[in-house]
Amino acid sequence: MRAVHYHEYGGVETLVVEQVPEPHPGPGEIRVRVAAAGVNPVDWKVRAGTVRELLPLDLPAIPGRDAVGVVDEIGEGVQGVRVGDRVFGLGGVTGATAELAVLSAWAPAPSTWTDEEAAGAGLASVTAMGGLKALGPLRGRTLLVEGAAGGVGSAAVEIAVARGATVIGTASERNHEFVTSLGAVPTTYGTGLAERLATLAPNGVDIALDTAASGSLADLVAIVGDPARVSTIADHTNAQHLNVRVVNAENDSTLLAEAGELGLQGRYTPRIERAYPLEQIAAAHAYAERGHTQGKIVIRI
Ligand SMILES: NC(=O)c1ccc[n+]([C@@H]2O[C@H](COP(=O)([O-])OP(=O)(O)OC[C@H]3O[C@@H](n4cnc5c(N)ncnc54)[C@H](OP(=O)(O)O)[C@@H]3O)[C@@H](O)[C@H]2O)c1
Repeated sequence: MRAVHYHEYGGVETLVVEQVPEPHPGPGEIRVRVAAAGVNPVDWKVRAGTVRELLPLDLPAIPGRDAVGVVDEIGEGVQGVRVGDRVFGLGGVTGATAELAVLSAWAPAPSTWTDEEAAGAGLASVTAMGGLKALGPLRGRTLLVEGAAGGVGSAAVEIAVARGATVIGTASERNHEFVTSLGAVPTTYGTGLAERLATLAPNGVDIALDTAASGSLADLVAIVGDPARVSTIADHTNAQHLNVRVVNAENDSTLLAEAGELGLQGRYTPRIERAYPLEQIAAAHAYAERGHTQGKIVIRI
């Protein structure tokens, strides 16, 4: 099969498209013929080798953590899915940016989503949902999403709005219209955030989800008044000393199914900023590495 491959840690120049052996699903897994795969920050962090102690790889590796496709092989013990079903989901830390990929968590891809949208839903939705669940009930509460325009942030905004929260989202000014289109009130991040929020939410902000790791976690705790009402998916360093809960993505088919259900209802649609063909994987990684993605970057296979 054709796949993106890298044989050593390094920059985007390490990414090549070549023939590699086909993977097969183990027990509890499925294989899909991939229509599109997501690009997530973890892909380029792993490729660059900066997180190799935490997430060591057997090189060569295929980048990509999530994908959408049609099921073509089913592993031992798997029930509730058939060859030919269109599903989106998550595999290991690597392996998705290829013609065939093994998934260990999946859900039916809603007919309301294009392949590109479904490819952008896997890691972003489970991470957003995990981060939101850590904050307790959403209905009737005012939520601040730090980094609301990114892949996880944009998913969190739509899902929280669907769950009845009033959402304020931080983003750079060029993304304010985008954040408004997701259902949140936009504001800029950085100096003066507490003052801007005092105007936007005179009754206060109840809970906050950090997706940016911009060093603002202490400010978010001060804004909501209690570290138990803040969660982060990105700032492991500051979370520890501030006593803020860190949420890591889990390969959880139930969360994916919840996201798909919201998709069917038209209440969550992953926003795709750019879709690249497989051959342009280096450009896709380079764009994602800038750290100012609006929604998601995906690869068409
Ligand atoms: N724990 C986990 O399991 C898990 C899972 C997924 C992701 N993550 C991590 O979570 C982070 C976000 O992931 P992602 O996929 O959403 O990334 P992304 O799509 O690249 O989005 C990053 C967003 O951060 C915003 N941003 C940049 N600087 C900021 C600042 N100083 N203050 C506030 N926002 C700022 C950008 O918004 P503007 O363009 O508006 O500046 C951009 O939209 C990454 O560090 C990723 O590695 C962790």
